[in-house]
Order: sequence, then structure tokens, then C-alpha cells
Amino acid sequence: MTHPAPPLAALFELTHRCPLQCAYCSNPLALTPPAQELTTAQWQDAIRQLQALGVLQVHFSGGEPAARNDLETLVETAHRSDLYTNLITSGVTLKEARIDRLAGAGLDHIQLSIQDTDEAQADAMAGVKGALARKAAAARAIRAAGLPLTVNCVIQRRNVARVAAMIDWALEAGARRIEIAHVQYYGWAIPNRAALLPPREAVDRALAVIEDARERLKGIIAIDHVIPDYYAARPKACMGGWGRQFLVIDPAGDVLPCHAAKTIPDLRFDNVRQRDLASIWNEGEAFQRFRGTAWMPQPCRSCERKEVDWGGCRCQALKIAGNAAATDPACALSPAHARLQALAGVTDLAPSPLLYRRYI
Ligand code: SF4
Ligand code: FES
Repeated sequence: MTHPAPPLAALFELTHRCPLQCAYCSNPLALTPPAQELTTAQWQDAIRQLQALGVLQVHFSGGEPAARNDLETLVETAHRSDLYTNLITSGVTLKEARIDRLAGAGLDHIQLSIQDTDEAQADAMAGVKGALARKAAAARAIRAAGLPLTVNCVIQRRNVARVAAMIDWALEAGARRIEIAHVQYYGWAIPNRAALLPPREAVDRALAVIEDARERLKGIIAIDHVIPDYYAARPKACMGGWGRQFLVIDPAGDVLPCHAAKTIPDLRFDNVRQRDLASIWNEGEAFQRFRGTAWMPQPCRSCERKEVDWGGCRCQALKIAGNAAATDPACALSPAHARLQALAGVTDLAPSPLLYRRYI
């Protein structure tokens, strides 16, 4: 059997614990309780296996990865294993001393997310008070520690008009890069979709602001932006293609081709407690299912983009087309594209109550 190339990167969802409750959180609706999280030694073992497999990067995420007291130990283990280490954090609990310890442990990069530049709106989206000021303080400490910083802005209908202010916030914070990402409709974002999805005109206006800023700020800050699937004509290569570049390990040790893969009901996932990562990646049932192009239906099978976007997102195909093995409805060639467009038309004109992420 020929094995696939090793993954480029692994995403560690260290925990589902988080001080925020964002209404668009991509974590599953049933969050893993702390008692079921992998131990320090189990995460360290996963890191060493990834090194042996030829992985280059590890992203520490969550929930809030800083909720794990052993974060420094895990960063140090990854650093000593020659892995590039990135921390994806809300920043609200990160104080100067901890950031210095993480830098000392060999952390290479931090991605700090903001909900909004309007404090009241930021609080409303995250379900907590005063998060933005704490994020600004964390950004200062990150830069003082000499760590490169990317600011992640998650765009939805309540903040889409403030894209320019978000770019200014990232500049002020000393970020080298800003990722302007529209909400992805998985996890908690699905029940909140009508309240979160911005209308097409607002997305177009934001796009013009971003294009202008890209020109103006060339060489000062890199601006990444992806059009939301609901207004696209072709899908993105979700996760760079299923089982091609990334693996995700969830807090309990299940190994997933993408963070939302557990929404696909008939997939069986292996766990790092029971099987080694090389064999999970090479032969695991969940990774094999949609790897490559052999599984593809028409129109993907005879499409010239099939090795560009790999048929798009399996989880979105399931959600919208009712079949994880269908063409992603974000593609205009998909028979279910009209369903996605119809959903895009269903946005709340008045602010509606948000369902917040919580342990249920
Ligand atoms: Fe991509 Fe399939 Fe659409 Fe072609 S038909 S663009 S491969 S999703
Ligand atoms: Fe699962 Fe796109 S989120 S394949």
C-alpha cells in the first residue's frame, strides 16, 4: 500500500475550556469535559510521534489552550522536537509573565483573535465583559516578548462594517499579519446563522475596504481574507483537502481530518490512546474516506478543479446537501448550490438573541 505524504501540520485542540462563549465557536455542541482531556504525557507522546511522521508545525488551540497549565511544557516539547509552534488564543487570560514563559519555552508565533473593535459589541459576541482591553494588553506583552503576532478577526453581520477599524487595531497592536475570516458555519455558528451572516452588500463593501488597505499597507502588514462560502461561486480546499495536509487531535485524543468531522455520523475515528498516529494518518478509516479524488461524485469527478479544491468541504456538504460525499454546495456546479444561496438570503434584519457556547 502506498502511503500519503505526511501531514504538514497538526492542530491540537488541547481543551474545550474557554473563558469566552463566542456565538460562532466552531467547537462541537457537546464539549469534552476536562476529566476526559488527554494528559500531559499523552500530548507529549503525540508530539514525538508527529516529529517521527515528518510533521513540520503544531498549532495549539482549543477552546482556550492557555486554560491548560501544561501549555509551556507542551510548547517546549514541540520546540525540542523541531516543530514550528503556533499558539491560537483569545488572549484574555494571558498575562506578561506567562507570555514570557511561553517565549522562553520556544514558542514561535501567536495568533490572537478579536471579536470586534466596538467594546460593547465585542462583549456581546463573546458573552463576557472587558475582553477587548485584556486582548490589547496581551498584544503589547506578546510584542514586548519579541514574538511575531497575527491578529484574527472573525467577521459577522454585527462587525462587518468595522473591518477598517479592525485593521487599524491590528496595526496598533504591532501585528505583522491580519487574517480577516468570515464565520464558518459549524458548531455553535449553525443555530446562530441568521443572526451572524452578513448581507451580500456588506460583504462587498468590506472587500473594497480590504483591497484598499492591502495596497496602502503593502510591506507594513499582510492582510489575508477569504470570501465567505455563502457568497462564493467555487469552494475552498477545506483543510487543504481531506487527509492531505492537516490532522486535528481533539481534547479527548480522537484524531480527525478536520475540526468538524465528528458531525459526519457514519465516520469512525481512531484515538491516540489506542493507535499510533502514523497508522491513523496512513490507514485510518476516517482519513481514507474522502482522501484524494476516487470518492468524488459528478460534477467533481470530471472537473478540472478537482485537485485544486478537492471538492470543497465535506461537513458543509453534509449540512446543506444532506450527504458528506456530495459536491460542496458552495460550488455553483453543485445541484445543492441553490439551497446554500437560499440560506444566504435568510438573515435577521433586527438583532436576534444569540445562542452562546456552553457546556451542555
Ligand atoms: Fe470543485 Fe467539484 Fe465544484 Fe469542480 S465541481 S469546482 S471540483 S467542488
Ligand atoms: Fe470538515 Fe470542511 S470542516 S471538511
